Amino acid sequence: MKITVRSASMPLHGTIIVPGDKSISHRAVMLGALSDGTTHVSGFLNGADCLSTISCFRKMGVEIALSPDESEVVIHGKGMHGLTAPKDILDCGNSGTTTRLLTGILSAQAFTSVITGDESIQKRPMKRVMLPLREMGADIRSIYENDCAPMEIHGKRLHGITYVSPVASAQVKSSILFAGLYADGSTTVIEPSLSRDHSERMLQALGASVQTEILPDGRAKITVEPCRSLTAYPGTLEIPGDISSAAYFISAAMLVKGSDLVIRNVGINPTRAGILEAYQSMGADITLENKRLAGSEEMADIHVRYHKLHGTEIGGVLIPRLIDELPVIAAVAASAEGETIIRDASELKVKESNRIRAMVEGLMKTGISADETEDGMVIHGQGTDLKIQSTEIDTKKDHRIAMTFAVLALAGDLNTAITLKDAECIRISYPSFFEDFKKVVDNRECL
Ligand code: S3P
Repeated sequence: MKITVRSASMPLHGTIIVPGDKSISHRAVMLGALSDGTTHVSGFLNGADCLSTISCFRKMGVEIALSPDESEVVIHGKGMHGLTAPKDILDCGNSGTTTRLLTGILSAQAFTSVITGDESIQKRPMKRVMLPLREMGADIRSIYENDCAPMEIHGKRLHGITYVSPVASAQVKSSILFAGLYADGSTTVIEPSLSRDHSERMLQALGASVQTEILPDGRAKITVEPCRSLTAYPGTLEIPGDISSAAYFISAAMLVKGSDLVIRNVGINPTRAGILEAYQSMGADITLENKRLAGSEEMADIHVRYHKLHGTEIGGVLIPRLIDELPVIAAVAASAEGETIIRDASELKVKESNRIRAMVEGLMKTGISADETEDGMVIHGQGTDLKIQSTEIDTKKDHRIAMTFAVLALAGDLNTAITLKDAECIRISYPSFFEDFKKVVDNRECL
């Protein structure tokens, strides 16, 4: 499906609530399924990725009820050893989080399973989880012997290990920690810097023993102890709004002159909120209001007012804290004065698409000068009189690329328009994106 987005005809004003956090929604289903008792979840993200997680767990005998609008979920936990052998292949769709975290859990089950996903998933690197899990004793085989899905997993008794991960990846870390719950001793992951820590927070809330230490050299050391049982989350697990989805509206308000927008109830976990720091370093006017807790996560209302921007450098330990937001940050950088350099971000090449290539190609098509580098990109900002050419963008069926160019389209002069190919891919993480986007552009409340 093609969707055409025209430039904004007026500043963006108002309030919006974005859907629940994708990473936390996945983990709520996975850990709810392994808990003793029933888990009630509110603010669940009904994106295709999280629905893939639900479908995989249903295939392993877990009863999961969804409310009609799919924002509330009840998971009837089967306990740590209650999953049953799936009769069918476990299809993770487009979801890297489902594939990698589930591989960790499946490695320790008393049955054999086959896990796969769509065309994009079948190209994404799985060696990063197969290697440490095999070290723990797992029996995993890439069926086409290309280190990608489909994978066949024969559940085994696992051993605790210490694994020094070459990448700061929450998917790798969580996969190992979930397997570590079943191991015969402590399991430690050392990552180059702390990646998103939702798994650690949730495991702790369910009674598992998890310790995090930041080492003097900045690396993060996370240790999980073997665990006999997880207690279902007490009361209702409230999932905060996804900062990765909020990012599109924060960015829209930064691109459209005179805007003043509030995005309510957004998760601001420090391991996720790097975008706010990056934007503040570019001169953005962003404030956090009404800070409060949603379970073990912090959330706030994010207030953004349009402000002139300047280029910046983004790299190092900031990267894992804004990895999914880099495409839209690159688009906003087009309207900054001077160059923005993004480095240490080669992980972008192995996401749902090669996001460095997709962004640089797309920016160039809209008339913005950008260079691809070995581990990132350089965007040559045009400042406040940014000019955008009407064009068609190949989203590469990547939800974050589609939403990024929808937002960039708003910054064009009157009558500029960007057409997005395969725009339906937004359903992966934000099914109601275009409805919410239209309301914001039309200055209608979107609560
Ligand atoms: C995620 C971790 C990140 C992120 C992805 C979600 C998670 O991936 O890009 O969208 O929920 O753990 P990596 O762990 O591969 O960096």
